[in-house]
Amino acid sequence: MQLQTSKPSFINASVYYNRKDWQKGYESQTKEFEYWIDDIEGEIPPELQGTLFRNGPGLLDINGNRLHHPFDGDGMICAIAFKNSRAYFRNRFVRTEGYLKEQKAGKIIYRGIFGTQKPGGWLANAFDTKIKNIANTNIIYWAGKLLALWEAAEPYRLDPYTLNTLGKEYLNGILQEGDAFAAHPRIDTSCDIDGGNPCLINFSVKTGISSTITIYEINATGKLLRKHAHSIPGFAFLHDMAITPNYCIFIQNPVSFNPLPFFLGWRAAAQCINFLPNQPTKIILIPRHNQQAVQILTTKPCFVFHHANAFEQGDEIILDSVCYDSFPTVEPNSDFREINFESLPAGQLWRFRCNLIDKSVQQEVLATRCCEFPSLHPDKVGRSYRYLYIGAAHQPSGNAPLQAVLKIDLQTRACQLWSAAPRGFIGEPLFVPRPGGCGEDDGWVLLLVYDAAMHRSDVVILDARDLNVQSRLHLKHHIPYGLHGSFCQEYFGPV
Ligand code: CO
Repeated sequence: MQLQTSKPSFINASVYYNRKDWQKGYESQTKEFEYWIDDIEGEIPPELQGTLFRNGPGLLDINGNRLHHPFDGDGMICAIAFKNSRAYFRNRFVRTEGYLKEQKAGKIIYRGIFGTQKPGGWLANAFDTKIKNIANTNIIYWAGKLLALWEAAEPYRLDPYTLNTLGKEYLNGILQEGDAFAAHPRIDTSCDIDGGNPCLINFSVKTGISSTITIYEINATGKLLRKHAHSIPGFAFLHDMAITPNYCIFIQNPVSFNPLPFFLGWRAAAQCINFLPNQPTKIILIPRHNQQAVQILTTKPCFVFHHANAFEQGDEIILDSVCYDSFPTVEPNSDFREINFESLPAGQLWRFRCNLIDKSVQQEVLATRCCEFPSLHPDKVGRSYRYLYIGAAHQPSGNAPLQAVLKIDLQTRACQLWSAAPRGFIGEPLFVPRPGGCGEDDGWVLLLVYDAAMHRSDVVILDARDLNVQSRLHLKHHIPYGLHGSFCQEYFGPV
């Protein structure tokens, strides 16, 4: 692979980040702001119009009591609205029932799925299986509704202008109370069987000894087009889904779940997941539009949270995913801020070629650099594509915090890297096409970068063609490292 590193801003290659710098990006942001961003380097491209929404944990402690895992933090939405080369910033916590109760109580009163326990040891936690919907994983604007998503419960709806929480959302009866709605919907921008109209595809999982996956396909006015449920054997930890015009694709990680330590209050639910290194990983292919049977193919053991993309090619389905050698977890009685990156598996981008005739799966590593949070041109979702953008470590090998954006040309296999090291740490990069642009990489990559030197976050706009910085917008404060977000072409800022 060719690697063109764009202007590394440090001298000593062995000191590429400082753990204390990285830790500061996990300080809670308790305040809510709204303002025109006035500290801007470069020019915001005038064609960039619309709103960037981001979600992620805003609180990493409740009144000084630290959460055990960042995924347990209450969802905080950031919106950056772009118009006429100006940008307006807002952030608001999602007023979930759990957030309101804990803020009122001033202490942790719910166990977190990923590791946070209530104070008082195992006795205080035993047999408490109440779930706190923290609405912290993704945010989408679909069919006129802004939805904060968390995979184990229903979405919360917010006002897109004010980010005020409007309440739990049931999508005009598509969901029932207590239904899950995953945090990783996919949008098919031109759905073949719907006359080329856009369609949102999402799923929910009920899991135990066997698992049920329910698929929802919803059109741009919010109407349910298709809904179907499928039972698959075994416990299923399914965070993400890939689509093609004809399939929904899941990876069923080789893990088991032993609920006993959770019920007894010894461990959080996610800490009861055990990686099974001798079991295959399963690739599940669910037909989107016909009654054909679900197909399950197997490949070598690995753990996947996120898929980059999938597409159909002759008798094959190609699936590109970020794979780990095992399940990366934070052990009980340890602090995620103190994790030893070198001891945890690093995500790498793999390609699976699934042969629908002989059911074989071939794997290939597309990028060995530690990476996470893939993004691509929205019109290429589910289709053959050339360019992928993904968060990456600054160094070419080893596990490390994400400090760079890697652009991979899947046709030539050439890579480009933009790095914020040594003092910058990045969140999910999002590709946004230039309106009327030509070419798959004609657009921008938008991302939030935590600048430890200033203890504040920047919105960085990269030209997607060469990863050069177009503009850097300095916020007045920091935003804790987030999870996922989306870009909406509607401008939701002040008039
Ligand atoms: Co995710």
